[in-house]
Amino acid sequence: MPLIPLRVLLDHAAENDYGVAALNVNNMEQIQAIMTAAQETDSPVIIQASRGARAYSNDAYLRHLMLAAVELNPDTPIVMHLDHGNGPAACFSAIEQGFTSVMMDGSLSEDGKTPSDYDYNVKVTREVVQKAHAAGISVEGEIGALGGIEDGHGAGLSEEEAREHLTDPAQAEQFVKDTNLDALAVAIGTSHGAYKFKKKPTGDVLKMDLIEEIHKRLPDTHIVMHGSSSVPQELQDIINAYGGDIKQTYGVPVEEIQRGIKNGVRKINVDTDSRLAMTGAIRKVFAESPEQFDPRKYLTPAREAMKEVCKARMIAFGQAGWAGKVPIKTCREMVDFYKK
Ligand code: G3H
Ligand code: 13P
Ligand code: ZN
Repeated sequence: MPLIPLRVLLDHAAENDYGVAALNVNNMEQIQAIMTAAQETDSPVIIQASRGARAYSNDAYLRHLMLAAVELNPDTPIVMHLDHGNGPAACFSAIEQGFTSVMMDGSLSEDGKTPSDYDYNVKVTREVVQKAHAAGISVEGEIGALGGIEDGHGAGLSEEEAREHLTDPAQAEQFVKDTNLDALAVAIGTSHGAYKFKKKPTGDVLKMDLIEEIHKRLPDTHIVMHGSSSVPQELQDIINAYGGDIKQTYGVPVEEIQRGIKNGVRKINVDTDSRLAMTGAIRKVFAESPEQFDPRKYLTPAREAMKEVCKARMIAFGQAGWAGKVPIKTCREMVDFYKK
């Protein structure tokens, strides 16, 4: 089975009311963890790489690892997605490297930090949509800019800036008309990383009602939730029990994501939970068996721990059981779809 475009998978998810975890990778063990989770739950998958991941692993390694995943999992639909492309050039180079989907994150300027303006966002997103669709590749855009709206939480933006940059549903509607993208990331109070909320989030800091409003205005647009790790207490506890220092923190409860899935959320980005799971497992080996120095002795449990997190999300988001039912369309076949 070839790598498939994001649009094909999300259309199927929308028709059948499920969500799909978009899981970040940087190396072989993380790709293997996701693919084993997919096999064990019969799930289609979205594997995504950030700019940082591409720089860390090198595109050629990533591409070949992804091709190995395809070869070894012929019955699993796999999307290979660029996470947070910071400009058209990053998206175009990903397309050249075989990615079947790209995110043009024009909500931030090219530095990947400073919130941009609407016109810039439309300009760069349209440019990417036009070229990507001509090659049958899917495009995710973002309106509003991510950042926690709880004081001191959420990397990047200040609380005030983050509140200012929550997604405006009317602007989201206009943005979709202006860009013709496939999937829309929205800012609803989540942020990247482990430190999202100081206590289990209420509607004041995690604005799921915004998702409902956006979905009412854009019932046919696939909504994407970034910063959607749940930061499970047990993973924090394992890290801290073995010499780590994770300050008490709260992530996005899985039940809130499930509420989102009922309201048009189709792609749910999760990276931090995988990182926590791997780190806890590695710390445990280091603490309990300080004589070990064979990387396989700690990377095997790390891969296993990440697989368990991925499986739990695949089951909770509803993608489990659908692998064999997703229609398989190549990027080439999607060229005609986009022409229409
Ligand atoms: O967007 C955030 C993802 O967790 C990727 O993080 O840029 O450190 O690879 P990264
Ligand atoms: P987390 O940091 O919550 O895992 O979010 C990941 C993400 O949004 C990647 O784009
Ligand atoms: Zn993100």
